[in-house]
Amino acid sequence: MTTSETQEAGGERLLMIPGPVPVAESIREALAQPTLGHRDPQFVAHFRSALQKLVQLVDAADALPVVVPGSGTLAMEMALLNTLPVQAPILIATQGVFGDRMRQIADTLGLETDEVRAEMGQAVTPEQLQAALQQRRYDAVTLTHVDTSTGTMVDLRAVAGVIKAQQPEALILVDSVCATGGVPEYMDAWGLDLILTGSQKALGLPPGLALLIVGARAQAARRALPRVPSYYGDWERWRPIMENPDGYFATPATNMVVALDQALAMIFKEGPETRFARHEAMALVLRRGLAELGFEAYPALGHQAPTLSVLRYPAGVDAASFLRGMYNQGIVIADGIGQLAGKVCRIGHMGNIGPREVLQVVEAAERVLVREQSNGKARGVVLAVLKDMGLNVT
Ligand SMILES: Cc1ncc(COP(=O)(O)O)c(C=O)c1O
Repeated sequence: MTTSETQEAGGERLLMIPGPVPVAESIREALAQPTLGHRDPQFVAHFRSALQKLVQLVDAADALPVVVPGSGTLAMEMALLNTLPVQAPILIATQGVFGDRMRQIADTLGLETDEVRAEMGQAVTPEQLQAALQQRRYDAVTLTHVDTSTGTMVDLRAVAGVIKAQQPEALILVDSVCATGGVPEYMDAWGLDLILTGSQKALGLPPGLALLIVGARAQAARRALPRVPSYYGDWERWRPIMENPDGYFATPATNMVVALDQALAMIFKEGPETRFARHEAMALVLRRGLAELGFEAYPALGHQAPTLSVLRYPAGVDAASFLRGMYNQGIVIADGIGQLAGKVCRIGHMGNIGPREVLQVVEAAERVLVREQSNGKARGVVLAVLKDMGLNVT
C-alpha cells in the first residue's frame, strides 16, 4: 500500500515525529502477549535479561539499571533527586527545550543552578563548558546528548573529557532520551555517571518506561544522601528489584518490560555499531532528499544529531499547511517547539526505521510541495543515495 492509499483507507499513518516512533512488528507482538504477573518466572527472566542488555548497550560494567513505569521526564527528575542534596550547586548545559526542562526540575528540587547555553542551532561546546567550570565548583553537570527541540547533538566524549579534567569530582548526568540506542554512548570509557532515557525514542518501543543506567559514583551519591523527598522516585527502593527482579516494590509495566527485552534483543541482533551507522545513513538520505525540495538543516554542521532532523522550510512554505498536507498523505511529522514553533519541522528517524520509511517521507513531501508538477526528482535523489550506500528499499 502506498502512503496515500493508507490514508484514503483511513488506515494507520507513518509516525515520523521525534518520538514516539513506529514500533516494529516483533516488538508489538511481544507487547501483545498475555500479561504476565510480576513474579512469574517467565517475566522475571525477561526483566533480568532486559536489565543486563541495557547496561551492555552503554558499556557500563558496574552500573545499576533502573527501569520503572514513567517517561523520560521522570527519569530526569530521578537523576537529580537521587544524587544531589537541596542547595547543591549544579551546572546545566542546555541547547534547547530539554536542557531548560532540566533546569526547571533542578529549581523545583531546590538545587542551586547555573547554566551554560549553546548558541542557537548548536550544541554546548567543550570550550563553553571549560569557561563555565573555571568560575565555580559544582557537584554535578547535566548534559543533553541530543536535544529534540533543536536537533543538536553534543560531543559527549569531548565535553565529558573537559568536565573530568576541570572538576573530576563533579557527577556527569546525561539526558539521553533522544540518543540511547541510536548513537554510541560508552559510559565507562567516557566517564559518564548516569544516562537516562525513555522507551519511545531510539529504543523503538512505545512510550511508558523511564530508564536510568546509574554508574558507581552516582550510586554512592545516593547512598550519601540522608533522605530523598520521594517514595516512588527513590531508586534505593527499586534497587532490590533491579538486582533481582523476582520481588515486588511497585508493579512494573510487565508487557512493556517483555517488549523492552525484545527491543534490546533486536539491537544486539543488528549489532549496536551497525544500528548507529544505520541512523547516520537514514539521517543523511532524508536530508539529501528534502534538500532537493528546498529544506535546510537547522542545526549547524557538526552539531546535527542522527536521530532526528530539524529543518527550515523552503521559502514561501506555510508550516501549518505543510504539516497538514503531510498528515493527509499519511505521514505524521512534528512542528518546532519552544522558540522554533512554526519555524521548523522535526522529523524523527530513530529506532527501527529504514530506507522505506525515509523514502515515504520524501515522496509525501514532494507530493505536498510540488503536486502535479512533480517529476519525482527528490524521490530519485533518495533512491540514488540509497543505491550508493548499497541499500535497497524493501
Ligand atoms: C531530550 C529529551 N529529554 C527529555 C524528554 C522528556 O521525555 P518524556 O516526554 O518522555 O517525558 C524528551 C522528550 O521528547 C527529550 O527529547
